[in-house]
Amino acid sequence: MDIAVGIGILGCGTVGTAVATRLLEERDALIARAGASFTLHGIAIGNLTKPREAAIAPSLFTDDARALVDDPRIDIIVECIGGTTLASELVESALYSGRHVISANKDLLATQGPRLHALASARGSHLRYEAAVGSAIPVLRILSEALAGDRVEAVAGVLNGTCNFVLEAMENGASYADALAQAQALGYAEADPRNDVEGIDTTHKLAVLAQLGFGVPLTTSRIASAGIANITQRDVARAQMLDYHIRLVAAARRTDEGIAAEVAPLLVHASHPFAQLHGPENAITVIGRDSGALLLRGQGAGGNATASAVLGDIISTLRAIAERRTFLPLRQRAHGLAQAHATPLFDRLTRNRTLPRYAVWEDSILTAPVSPLLVAHSRPGKETLA
Ligand code: HSE
Repeated sequence: MDIAVGIGILGCGTVGTAVATRLLEERDALIARAGASFTLHGIAIGNLTKPREAAIAPSLFTDDARALVDDPRIDIIVECIGGTTLASELVESALYSGRHVISANKDLLATQGPRLHALASARGSHLRYEAAVGSAIPVLRILSEALAGDRVEAVAGVLNGTCNFVLEAMENGASYADALAQAQALGYAEADPRNDVEGIDTTHKLAVLAQLGFGVPLTTSRIASAGIANITQRDVARAQMLDYHIRLVAAARRTDEGIAAEVAPLLVHASHPFAQLHGPENAITVIGRDSGALLLRGQGAGGNATASAVLGDIISTLRAIAERRTFLPLRQRAHGLAQAHATPLFDRLTRNRTLPRYAVWEDSILTAPVSPLLVAHSRPGKETLA
């Protein structure tokens, strides 16, 4: 095995710590699987005095992230900082210099993905981010590899583990504030949990799914969204009495007029897979023209589950380096960087008379023919009997 690859990690929070620990403790097994040797040369952090995981040698830490990205020994940058400011600058710099980038950062990919893909493509770099959606659930591979010969027609799911955890805990009697505090303590929530409960994190993930699934430069701000922050215990309890669960659902589909997409808390019938998730689980359905509906379910948040996806991307990149493969971007159609826009989707769902704030999820919204008039103009939802 004559290929030695240098790795640098940016950020050592929940995900960065889990990735670094696995790379160090399971290095031999990972090298055997990858077919290329690697060395973790450094981990950039903001605070050198903060106590860290014992398995990580203190000598690996640096507070100079820019120097780590420019370190000539490093071929792969693993970005676990999150956010869109410093992370964007460092990822761009790494790609520009021809380094490969693996990221868990849905904010970054959802808002700047088309531009970063164009840069990676121009510089012959590899840009992978399986961990950005659904943590360990390999949905981006399914969109970009398994369904590469198909045409993705729709994607939908429950994409935020924190929201699912909070809503389930409220069903079991916890207050919203206590449930959210617990989700934070368990490492499910974002550094700023408003991203979770206001639906921003879910909308980022839907944008990433749409970019890869439909090959369109759709970014977060072009998708209608709402979160769970105003949901009351009374709403949750009344939904349960009607055999529904309130869940934050994201969905996007193709229509003849373009993409329709939306994120909102909906009533999901108790018999539906989106309602049967526990704790931080996610579920994602992907509908291909030829494949039909595929359903994925699994742990959607947490350090180790997210690290599983990051490590999978690292191994894929090491294998590609070992095989001296050309680095092609993830599945992308020929499209420019002009922003795509999504029309709202959920105004075609019916509403429940007892809980009229919430539309009722129906799978058929992903496949039913869409009238151009309905896509172009929002209309109030129909009411149904409870
Ligand atoms: N805060 C996110 C969630 C983490 O709860 O789903 C995983 O993306």
